[in-house]
Amino acid sequence: MEEKLRQLKDKALRELERVSDLNSFRDLEIKYLGRKGELAEILKSIPSLNGEEKKIFGALGNEIKNELAKKFEEKRIFFGGKRERGFIDITLPGEKIEGGHLHPITLVQNDLENIFTSMGFMILDGPELESDYYNFEALNIPPYHPARDMQDTFYIARTDADGTGVSDLVLRTHTSPVQIRAMQKYGAPFRGVVPGRVFRSENIDASHEHTFYQMEGLMVDKDISIDNLIFTLKQLLNGIFKRAVDTRIRPGYFPFVEPGIELDIKCALCGGAGCPACKHSGWLELLPAGMVHPNVLRAGGIDPDIYSGFAFGLGLTRLAMMKYGIEDIRLFNGGDLRFLKQF
Ligand code: PHE
Repeated sequence: MEEKLRQLKDKALRELERVSDLNSFRDLEIKYLGRKGELAEILKSIPSLNGEEKKIFGALGNEIKNELAKKFEEKRIFFGGKRERGFIDITLPGEKIEGGHLHPITLVQNDLENIFTSMGFMILDGPELESDYYNFEALNIPPYHPARDMQDTFYIARTDADGTGVSDLVLRTHTSPVQIRAMQKYGAPFRGVVPGRVFRSENIDASHEHTFYQMEGLMVDKDISIDNLIFTLKQLLNGIFKRAVDTRIRPGYFPFVEPGIELDIKCALCGGAGCPACKHSGWLELLPAGMVHPNVLRAGGIDPDIYSGFAFGLGLTRLAMMKYGIEDIRLFNGGDLRFLKQF
């Protein structure tokens, strides 16, 4: 009996070794392990053995059966066969597909665009790589002017074919150059906002980034006064915060406006008590603005004796920080999903 079992095992393994496709494998499986296969044939006689033999051969028979089953299974996997026909349980819940969503800056930008289009402003774009002329000179900031120091710039070196280097290109430091472009293109009267990315060579900390977002506003018409400006800014803040925010207006200097103002809002992070985000002053500069300087109107091809205008340069990034209580500006461009997934 033992001999028979061992011979069967060796023969089965030898043939299994030689089998070369799934169909002959299946035939072999039936031949040896099938219900009427050779192994079953031998095992059938075990119940009729006496007590001691039954125990020994029963155990041996099982051992060989298990061993063969294992080897056959390995071969089946080798041929790429499956034990059972594939079964799809259509009642199981599906896999969740994660939807994308908008970045907090885009959310604030969309809100602002709605507010301004409802007041008849158009929405404009401008180049991020800007000429020195549009970024500075046309905005009443000549090369020698100390106001250039207010906005540390990335100058882009350019080498001409003859080897001389001219660097008249900068990454725009603000969206204000689009004021000039807009006036040149559309003339007066004009109403528009320009959301966009700007760049400065900054030392990075919780409130300074080299890349951030602004939204420029420009309105040019006959008889525009600072009252129009202040009204517009208040509309803007109410639309964004949807609650009363404490503001203060103080004089501010920018070469392209006269007079210039700064609108500050009470720091929403510390409630005015002082924190790193507001440089411990309790107030945040949010909206520099002013009446467009006559030289700037002229650079845009508009006669300052007939028209006047206001302009503002909203810090979009800073507004998003205030609205959502974000304490560190570096989070916006950091790409940390733990941050981004909260919006
Ligand atoms: N461009 C200025 C800045 O980025 C802001 C500004 C815009 C000020 C328009 C006045 C009018 O600092």
